[in-house]
Amino acid sequence: MRPIDPLHAFVFRPFALPFSQKPFPVEETTNSDSLMDTSEEPPEAEDVLHFGREWPKILPHLEKDLNAMIAQQRATIEVQKERWRPVIKQEKLGQAKSFYDEFERVLATGTILPSKLGGGGVYILYNALDEPSFIIKPNDEAILCLNNPKHRGSPFNDTSHRLRDQIPLYKTCETEVSVSALSREVGIGHCTPDVRMMILSSPLFYDLSSHLQGKEKELFNAQCGKPNGEKLCSVQRFIPDSLDLQQAMHEWFEAGLEEHFPLPIDQEEFEDVLLLLWLTYDADGHSSNFRVFFKRLDEQHKAVYGIIKIDNGLSLPEENRYLLNYLGYFQNAKLTPSKQLLEKISSIDEQVLDAILEQNHLSYARTALKDRIDVLKILSQRSSITLEEINHRFEFLSLPDGKNLALSPLSPQEITDSLQETIHPASTTKRKSSKERAQAQAHQLLIKV
Ligand SMILES: Nc1ncnc2c1ncn2[C@@H]1O[C@H](COP(=O)(O)OP(=O)(O)O)[C@@H](O)[C@H]1O
Ligand SMILES: [Mg+2]
Repeated sequence: MRPIDPLHAFVFRPFALPFSQKPFPVEETTNSDSLMDTSEEPPEAEDVLHFGREWPKILPHLEKDLNAMIAQQRATIEVQKERWRPVIKQEKLGQAKSFYDEFERVLATGTILPSKLGGGGVYILYNALDEPSFIIKPNDEAILCLNNPKHRGSPFNDTSHRLRDQIPLYKTCETEVSVSALSREVGIGHCTPDVRMMILSSPLFYDLSSHLQGKEKELFNAQCGKPNGEKLCSVQRFIPDSLDLQQAMHEWFEAGLEEHFPLPIDQEEFEDVLLLLWLTYDADGHSSNFRVFFKRLDEQHKAVYGIIKIDNGLSLPEENRYLLNYLGYFQNAKLTPSKQLLEKISSIDEQVLDAILEQNHLSYARTALKDRIDVLKILSQRSSITLEEINHRFEFLSLPDGKNLALSPLSPQEITDSLQETIHPASTTKRKSSKERAQAQAHQLLIKV
């Protein structure tokens, strides 16, 4: 059992305190949670299947081939599920047996209920005492997948209809499982939940046909194939007594912590989470995808908090093109890496991590991961490099010829300035497309280097 915060520094109360001056970088409006629609928002009249936000792109297909597209997606979803069934059966007997056994024990007397949190389909398994115990996320309910229940569904599945250009759709399960396996392998398994794949059924799982009735529904299913309440899902333990980082920051600032102070987070855990994000190149590391919990008291009897990264579904891209790591901007990142972190980095076994990606059908992400490991091993050997500088250099990987830029001899100040100009330009200035800008800037930087 985790200790309860003796200082009650966490006051669990709902409030929304907008900062008049944002002390931390303004979050991208494209993070997946902020794009969330609630199912209460009425769709347009013609959008009988409640696709929601994507509807304008779907409308031209309505008369033409929408049902054929849905039929194809339904079939693909089934094929993917069946491909994993024998693997999951094996896993249940192997080293993950205790995880599966515990889940099944809770499931036998518990209740699965949908949650409004997040932008994808998220379900909570409550135990017999009504305590949240597991988080279940069906693969086909992620944002831009066919059965997204929060008005972000889509019948498309091609490179031009992705949430992130470098991450294929319908990969959240495999990605979450890979990230959890990868973190265990690197010795930082505590900084993200243990995630396993399961094939589960619930009458509450969402299917886009649920909005149709009677004959209309029959005709739709005859044309598109039957809906299936049995789904491929990722399953992870619910993190008890934790708060999302955004809320925790409000609490800390209300309690008097100033913006230029380090957050009261255990430095070793903070470093481990940074390492995780460098390895995964997470495109969704916004503040609500980190959870913090009371860990211990320090020598001055002040509370120190642990931190865990959740929601790794938008990571392990095909190319290193978009890193969103909220932690990279905190005072806690101004320190140099600890000896323990350096040891973890130097002992990363690239081949083992590569095998994890291959086993989980993420071969497309292998080259980009290899590049990140190469860069990380080199950077971590530089004397007096800070965590922040490593993070900034990792952002450079997003630019054309990013590997050279990340390893360039630019000073930390030059790096910060260049990032401001390229990856985080002021939003008010009229500017070139992000690709043109990145290319022009990369060219200039290489001349400097
Ligand atoms: N393991 C967990 N423990 C506690 N809460 C969780 C856990 N996983 C998810 N949540 C809660 O559910 C929300 C949505 O889950 P998330 O994985 O972020 O889904 P999405 O991919 O839709 O953003 C999170 O912001 C968090 O509040
Ligand atoms: Mg999320």
